[in-house]
Amino acid sequence: MTDWPARRTQTLKADAAGIAEAAACLKAGRLVAMPTETVYGLAADATSDRAVASIYAAKQRPTFNPLIAHVLDSNAAAREASFDAHARRLAEAFWPGPLTIVAPVAPTCQVCVLARAGLDSVALRAPSHPAARALIEAAGFPLAAPSANLSGHVSPTRPEHVLADLDGRIELILDAGPTRAGLESTIIACLGGTPRLLRHGALAREEIEARLGLALAADDLDDDHAPRGPGMLSSHYAPAATLRLNAREAAPDEAALDFAGALASGGAARRLDLSPRGDLTEAAANLFAHLRALDAGGAKKIAVAPIPAHGLGAAINDRLRRAAAPRSPSAA
Ligand code: TXA
Ligand code: MG
Repeated sequence: MTDWPARRTQTLKADAAGIAEAAACLKAGRLVAMPTETVYGLAADATSDRAVASIYAAKQRPTFNPLIAHVLDSNAAAREASFDAHARRLAEAFWPGPLTIVAPVAPTCQVCVLARAGLDSVALRAPSHPAARALIEAAGFPLAAPSANLSGHVSPTRPEHVLADLDGRIELILDAGPTRAGLESTIIACLGGTPRLLRHGALAREEIEARLGLALAADDLDDDHAPRGPGMLSSHYAPAATLRLNAREAAPDEAALDFAGALASGGAARRLDLSPRGDLTEAAANLFAHLRALDAGGAKKIAVAPIPAHGLGAAINDRLRRAAAPRSPSAA
């Protein structure tokens, strides 16, 4: 019942040969899953509406949701967008790394209009993962890359996750093992005035504010009805199971997603701890993989321990709230 070729998706090691093969695919307008330091991305030529359209199609993603274009560095970014002083300082401090900067498009912008979903701003990120960098360099153009999962599913932190969602829908997966951060990049809009936090992510808000010496503007990121910029829909990162947040104890019919051993067991059938030692960085790296594992165990409900709100806890809580939100058919 699908129009996808029934061919298998190839998995190649992210070595020189794999990267050369992947770059050839990208130049031919096809899709490649690439490792980044945050999550696996589903990459295509960001300058080609056609290639970008196949990202939306493979993910079954609504087309109004703009994508991040991945570049090597600030020089490459300068061709795509006009950076103000804040954006320049952020790029200097945190690139390459898990920070995405949204800025007004430059007259020389090559990122296609479909990747920008028609907006006159563009989201740019210089990833630090060596395989992602090698691929961008070999391709020779910016890579549009959302997380490499079906729309509405949990973001992939391992090549197996990509395969589970996209086998037969994409050309190949570059395998570099589990990703380091396990959470998507933090997104900051620099569109004039005070920079605005659009999405919590792998770079803590506090670190950004310390570097800029100012408090970021932010929509009410805690309110699930608040618009968070295009595509920041409330139901996102959805596992099949229902989540019960800030639980003190797991019921016998629930699986348990614990943090620092805080959940009283209550006889939960299956239990995973995001970080037994209470480390938020470790918890972020485990979040999506643990949600997938509990889902795969067939749990209908997952009791989730309270997660501290500071540092990366803000991003973890944001993802958990989205995963727990009522399902919307157009989630990204
Ligand atoms: O860590 C990451 O950011 C990963 C890896 C692969 O780099 N990518 C990722 O992409 O999470 P994606 O497509 O799942 O999320 C991109 C977010 C979307 O929520 C989108 O709405 C926002 O970036 N975005 C993109 N362009 C924008 C723009 N011009 N204005 C506001 N938001 C924008
Ligand atoms: Mg995503």
